[in-house]
Amino acid sequence: MRLYLLPVCLLMFSSCGNEAPGEKVPDAPTAVPNSKDDGQAIFRQYCASCHMLDNDATGPKLRGVLARWNDDPAKVKSFIRNATGMIASGDSLALQAQQRGRGGTMPAFPDLSDQQLDGLLDYFQNGR
Ligand code: HEC
Repeated sequence: MRLYLLPVCLLMFSSCGNEAPGEKVPDAPTAVPNSKDDGQAIFRQYCASCHMLDNDATGPKLRGVLARWNDDPAKVKSFIRNATGMIASGDSLALQAQQRGRGGTMPAFPDLSDQQLDGLLDYFQNGR
């Protein structure tokens, strides 16, 4: 009787083994994009409700924004991650950015990765 069940167990194990790799495929939303096109996709998803590349809207236009921040990508990234915090800290560049906005508050984006922010900055320099 036990010997008779053995092939059934083996069959179950092997089918489990076949399913495992499928379960390890990472979720699409957690994949970290890092190309010009991805910068545009992130922009459309998180930023385009307030920003345009070439025109001021609720937030300032973002083409060439790096030059407004002394060509310091780290500072722009910090601002994107926590705009109100940086304004509250009295940072002079952040206060100037606030002057360029049309009121309202930019939400914080603490979860954007460095690669995602690089993609965004690349889009602000080279996007079409
Ligand atoms: C709800 C509206 C809103 C959204 C969404 C938003 N912003 Fe802003 N953004 C603003 C406003 C308003 C300002 C002006 C500064 C301030 O008052 O916070 C600003 C300023 C900026 C600046 C500085 C511009 C300058 O001239 O120095 C950058 C860079 C920026 N935003 C990037 C982003 C990015 C990247 C996203 C998406 C991940 C985003 N913003 C999403 C409203 C928004």
